[in-house]
Amino acid sequence: MTRKLPVLAVAAIALTWCLGAHAGTLSATGALKADQPGAPINRYIYGQFSEHLGRGIYDGVWVGEDSKIPNVRGIRTDVVMALKDIKVPVIRWPGGCFADEYRWRDGVGPRDKRPSRKNNWWGGSPESNQFGTHEFMDFAEQVGADPYVSINVGSSDPTEMREWIEYMTSPGDDTLAQERRANGRDKPFKVPVIGIGNESWGCGGEMTPEYYSNEYRRFSAFFHQNADNPAIRVASGSNADDTNWTDVVMKAAARRMDAISLHYYTLPTGDWGKKGSATGFSQQDWVDTFANTLKMDKIIADHSAIMDKYDPEKRVGLYVDEWGTWYDVEKGTNPGHLYQLNTLRDGVLAAANFNIFHHHADRVRLTAIAQTINVLQAMILTEGDKIALTPTYYAYKMYVPFQDSTSLPLDITAPEFSMGGKTIPAFNASAARGKDGKIYIGLASMSPNDEVALTINLGTLKAKSVSGQVLTAARLDAANPIGAPGVVVPVDFKKAKITGGNLVLTLPAKSVVVLTLE
Ligand code: AHR
Repeated sequence: MTRKLPVLAVAAIALTWCLGAHAGTLSATGALKADQPGAPINRYIYGQFSEHLGRGIYDGVWVGEDSKIPNVRGIRTDVVMALKDIKVPVIRWPGGCFADEYRWRDGVGPRDKRPSRKNNWWGGSPESNQFGTHEFMDFAEQVGADPYVSINVGSSDPTEMREWIEYMTSPGDDTLAQERRANGRDKPFKVPVIGIGNESWGCGGEMTPEYYSNEYRRFSAFFHQNADNPAIRVASGSNADDTNWTDVVMKAAARRMDAISLHYYTLPTGDWGKKGSATGFSQQDWVDTFANTLKMDKIIADHSAIMDKYDPEKRVGLYVDEWGTWYDVEKGTNPGHLYQLNTLRDGVLAAANFNIFHHHADRVRLTAIAQTINVLQAMILTEGDKIALTPTYYAYKMYVPFQDSTSLPLDITAPEFSMGGKTIPAFNASAARGKDGKIYIGLASMSPNDEVALTINLGTLKAKSVSGQVLTAARLDAANPIGAPGVVVPVDFKKAKITGGNLVLTLPAKSVVVLTLE
């Protein structure tokens, strides 16, 4: 059986095997073309999404200034330190579905005067508005990330959008800028990315693409992109493989936008009624999950092809600003809070998606995983004053060198395996030249049992040494407990060497490996 891997530029002969009871060694080859640089890998590909949902913001980010949990101006220090460490480049906020009911005025001014609202989308929980514009900007600044603000289109109007943007960005003496100053911020906030609506086909207003296109044009007419507000304008994009949405919106409004979004979530079963469990899953669930997540490659390719029709110069970015695993909620938690545990499977899945995004770096210039803390495929889980850094967190940490690197072609010949009618490759991979001039290779091993003996021809690259890190564990569903040392953490990888112009390594089953070649 043959299959083209996401990273392949050439077709490859592949080997199919059945999952056996015992682990074995498979073999694979590849070729790196370090002298043929491709598209830049924008650091925004490593972005985060933090919505007012469950314990994502409250508990996760905001504990308040009077909390016993160490904080700076109400924002928890342990979380900020951890996010700084993975060099989060951009954070999308306040939603999600929440964004299209959000009134920005509820979240500015003295905190004791802010109204309490009902969070209708997420469990009907009270929204205290203690975390608003200034707190979000402070959070982003503490982390060192750029803010990406989503504007309410579904239940609001262009005036509210225009005034919020002026409040945040105006340097002048106008009343909105003065109000911002009175609320404690003299200099304008930098807001480099602004989304005009979220999932406008669903929770953001149940619009048709034709209707949304008109709304987008109307809002964008009052979106004054100028020296005060040079923000990238992001149109609300499609759900998964709905290319008609992209087609209609691009046709009607491409010249008024700088990016269009795309949302695609990975459900093990593909069934929203019974998505599958975050832990305690079978090998079949593992295979099904990866078969579903790898659809990301074709979904992006299909949307990119549509975008090429209206924007052949690729000026408009495709922003995958919601993606990740979505499982059945953890038993005993509020179903509206989308709290799920995070295992080795999530870490490997994150890396597999990074490799896909790198492959599409000419169009995909921002992604935002859902979501940063305590929601869906989180980087961090919290319990009181304790936190756990998840396997997904460590995948982000290992891939930091890919931020603002230059992609390089890496042709791979890899085995595949089939189980229960699903076929997935043993691994996928990507390569880049980092800002520091070093070559980085990222590998996501999706093989649950077998290691892969991999030989990559380095072509014109004269590398002298290789070092690296590996993230793996004994169990497919190994997780990092809250408040205890991690089980799934990266360690030095010793099973790679350079010999005769080749990189030779043994890629462990169920792992993430990132190599540095110098
Ligand atoms: O991330 C959770 C929700 O998923 C978001 O609020 C929404 O945009 C999407 O449907």
